[in-house]
Amino acid sequence: MSKVLLIGAGGVGRVVVHKLVQNKDTFSHITLASRRLESCQVYQDEMITRYGVHIDIAQVDADSVDELVELIKKVEPDVVLNIALPYQDLTIMEACLITKTHYLDTANYEHPDTAKFEYKEQWAYHDRYKDAGIMALLGSGFDPGVTNVFCAYLQKHYFDEIHTIDILDCNGGDHGYPFATNFNPEINLREVSSNGRYWEDGEWIETKPMEIKMVWDYPQIGKKDSYLLYHEEMESLVKHIKGLKRIRFFMTFGESYLTHMKCLENVGMLGIEEVEHNGCKIVPIQFLKTLLPDPKTLGERTKGKTNIGVVAKGLKDGKEVSYYLYNVCDHQEAFKETNSQAVSYTTGVPAMIGAKMMCEGKWMSDGVWNMEQFDPDPFMDELNKQGLPWHIENLSS
Ligand SMILES: NC(=O)c1ccc[n+]([C@@H]2O[C@H](COP(=O)([O-])OP(=O)(O)OC[C@H]3O[C@@H](n4cnc5c(N)ncnc54)[C@H](OP(=O)(O)O)[C@@H]3O)[C@@H](O)[C@H]2O)c1
Repeated sequence: MSKVLLIGAGGVGRVVVHKLVQNKDTFSHITLASRRLESCQVYQDEMITRYGVHIDIAQVDADSVDELVELIKKVEPDVVLNIALPYQDLTIMEACLITKTHYLDTANYEHPDTAKFEYKEQWAYHDRYKDAGIMALLGSGFDPGVTNVFCAYLQKHYFDEIHTIDILDCNGGDHGYPFATNFNPEINLREVSSNGRYWEDGEWIETKPMEIKMVWDYPQIGKKDSYLLYHEEMESLVKHIKGLKRIRFFMTFGESYLTHMKCLENVGMLGIEEVEHNGCKIVPIQFLKTLLPDPKTLGERTKGKTNIGVVAKGLKDGKEVSYYLYNVCDHQEAFKETNSQAVSYTTGVPAMIGAKMMCEGKWMSDGVWNMEQFDPDPFMDELNKQGLPWHIENLSS
C-alpha cells in the first residue's frame, strides 16, 4: 500500500489518475498536483463520479524546487510521478533528492530554450540518488518506456544477440481536425521538426527532418508512410542491448500533417525564441499551442487505432532470427475507459505500471535507471492486465 504524488494534470495525467485509482490495492493514497488547481479539480470530480474515490489535490509550480520540497514534505509520498512537462524533470528530481523520495517520469529533460533531448543531466544524478538510497525510473511511458521493455523482453527470451532494432510508432487515429497534435503541441512539434538521427556501428548519423521514409504494414491498421526521427529511448538502448549494430525510430505522419507543419515552420510559427509582437514578447510555438485544439479534448472525436512496436533482428542458437513485438490500442476504447485518446492512454498506463513495479518492490534499486535495465517479465504481465496487451510475430525467414 503506497502513497503517490502525481504532478501534472494534463492529457497523460488524466489516464494516470484513472489507472492509479483502478489499482487501489497498490496505491492507497493519491495526491494530484499541478500548476493550476482547477485542472486537478476536474479530475478529482471525475474520480468521484466514475469510481466513488476521493483523491487529494494541490497547487504547485514545478519549476520551483522550494515549492516542490514543501509539497513533498506535506504529502510524504513513497514515489513522485512526474507527468508535467520535460522542462520540469530536473527541478522535480532535485526536490526528490532533497526529500529522499523515489522519482518516475515519462520523458527526458529538455531545456525550454534548446530543442535537444538527452539523458546526460538526469543520468548525472545517479550517484547522488544511490547515496540517498532512492530510485529514479526514467521514461516510463510507451516510447520511451514500453519500447525499452519490449527490447529487454526480446533480448531475454528470443535472442542471444540483437543486431538491429527498428521502433515503429503508428497513430492511425483520425480526430477530424485539419491539424492538431495528440499530445502537448509544443513538445510534439519540437520533436518532429528537429533533425532525424539514428545509430549505426557505434556512431550517430544525422538526417534532415523527414529525410528517410519507408512504408510499413501495421497490423490492424494497414500500410502507412513512416519517417525516421530521433527518439530518446535510443540513447539508453545503445548502451544496454548486447551486440547492437543499428537502431532507428520511425513514426507515421499523414501528408496533411506534414504540409501544415512545413507551412507553420516556413512562416516561423515553430520558433522557440521570443519575438516582439505589439509591444509584448511572445514565443511563436507557445502562441501556436494556444491556437491549436487542446489534446485533452481530442479523445471524444478520435477514431482508429495506434500500433507501437519493435522489430528486432539478430542471432539465436547461431541462426538469424527476427521478431516483431507490438501493442495495438483503440482510441474509442481508451476514451470509454479514461476519457482520453489512445496517445495519452498508451503513455499513462505504463507510467502507472512503472510506479506499481517500484511500490511493489519488483523494480527497486538505488540510483537512476532506464526501463530496459530491469527484468521485463513482471512489467509485460501488467501490460496484458492493465489494458495494453501485446502480440509477438516471428518474422524469421
Ligand atoms: N513516453 C511517452 O510515450 C510519452 C508520450 C506522450 C507524452 N509524454 C510526456 O508526458 C508528459 C505529459 O504530456 P501531456 O500530453 O499530458 O501534456 P499536457 O497535456 O500539456 O499536460 C502537462 C501538464 O503539466 C502541467 N504543468 C506544466 N507546467 C507546470 C509547472 N511548472 N508546474 C506544475 N504543473 C505544470 C500543466 O498543468 P496545468 O493544467 O495545471 O497548467 C499541464 O496540464 C510530457 O512530459 C510528455 O513529453 C511521453
